[in-house]
Amino acid sequence: MRVSSTGFVTPSAELIRLAADVPAERAEMAIAAACVVLGEGCREATGAAGRVRLEFWVAPARADRAAERLAAVLAPLGGTGVTRTAEDPGWQTAMREFHQPVEIDGRIRVRPPWHPAAGDAIDVVIDPAMAFGTGQHDTTRGCLELLAGLAPGRLIDIGCGSGVLAIAAAKIGHCPVWAWDLDPVAIAATIANASANGVALTVACRNALVAPLPEVDVVLANLTANVVEPLAERVVGLPLRAAILSGLRPFEVDSVCAHWATVGLEVIDTRIGREWGTVLLERR
Ligand SMILES: C[S@@+](CC[C@H](N)C(=O)[O-])C[C@H]1O[C@@H](n2cnc3c(N)ncnc32)[C@H](O)[C@@H]1O
Repeated sequence: MRVSSTGFVTPSAELIRLAADVPAERAEMAIAAACVVLGEGCREATGAAGRVRLEFWVAPARADRAAERLAAVLAPLGGTGVTRTAEDPGWQTAMREFHQPVEIDGRIRVRPPWHPAAGDAIDVVIDPAMAFGTGQHDTTRGCLELLAGLAPGRLIDIGCGSGVLAIAAAKIGHCPVWAWDLDPVAIAATIANASANGVALTVACRNALVAPLPEVDVVLANLTANVVEPLAERVVGLPLRAAILSGLRPFEVDSVCAHWATVGLEVIDTRIGREWGTVLLERR
């Protein structure tokens, strides 16, 4: 992997393509499940009869873990074994076409490094060759939409992935901003992306269900319901005024919010789509 002069990890021919076939009727569910463990970068193609081929691009350092996690989430959905190949020279074009800038209410624009800055929106540059979080996933978009309207304070982004939410938060004016993830690849990506965006974050490799959280006013948590729900207990005693929670399936939203209500935070706004739900909670 090469590091460019801007500090970004530049996509290189060293990327690994992971591929698996899933039954066509379960493709959407499989993509959603895969996104949770890998992030964006999925390409769909026609597979053998009645099946869809899903392809993902990951850095070599992530390939073993990513293949393992992908196989584990796809197996219950009828996915075949995951294959790994060093990427062919055409991948770069495919990736560049796939990753387009994402604009959030004209306030925040997340773009890959090969797209120029444009307009007056807060400019967040994220290299998609790295960890989860290019802004294209519904959960990331939902968080950014709700974050755009929130008054600045001390903030932690739990499960920072590429660092996209933490970087956007710092550019909005939140200070200080912590960015935690338990995946070392996400930590490396967040550090590189923060430096390329010129923002200061306190980045740490931590399991948020174990490590004590810092004193913050705002929690951002785009994870999965089985992590987001027990996080509620971790914020007891903090001066928290708001939490943005995502990575929730629509049917999980009510129970997660009911759990957070027990620690004094209630639903103020929501973004509920067909696949994913994102909520803004504030202190009563
Ligand atoms: C869906 S990604 C979100 C990435 C980014 N924040 C975004 O919104 O696009 C979730 C991230 O949470 C991390 N994660 C999962 N469980 C965690 C835990 N208990 N503590 C800290 N990070 C965790 C994963 O490694 C992954 O990078």
